[in-house]
Amino acid sequence: MRLRGFKVVHVATIDKVPPGGAYRTKLAGEEPIIVVNVNGEVRAFEAVCTHEGCPLGWNPTQHLIRCPCHGSAFDTRGEVVNGPAILPLKAYAAYVEDGLIAVAYLPNDTTTSASKSELRARSIRP
Ligand code: FES
Repeated sequence: MRLRGFKVVHVATIDKVPPGGAYRTKLAGEEPIIVVNVNGEVRAFEAVCTHEGCPLGWNPTQHLIRCPCHGSAFDTRGEVVNGPAILPLKAYAAYVEDGLIAVAYLPNDTTTSASKSELRARSIRP
């Protein structure tokens, strides 16, 4: 699969994210993301709470992405189901390719730290 303008990275093998499970990793070695595998679909989100930036975790019994700091919860589409957060999670395009989970992001999207890292890397090249 090709997504024009996007950079695609493989973040894990699919066996790290069993059905109903989630896996925390970093996108391009920097951006914390959480990959969930629900209803036969793999989805990826920035693993940072939109309330005050705490790292997010996974509740496997509720199938919710939860924040331990003030109790916000997000569903498997990244939407808020419990505040105080009011904004949804940043979502990335994700898919499985040859047993690997591929996540796509925009290299020039300055709202992600992965993109900032890439821009820094470009600026030091001659
Ligand atoms: Fe997540 Fe406050 S930082 S609920």
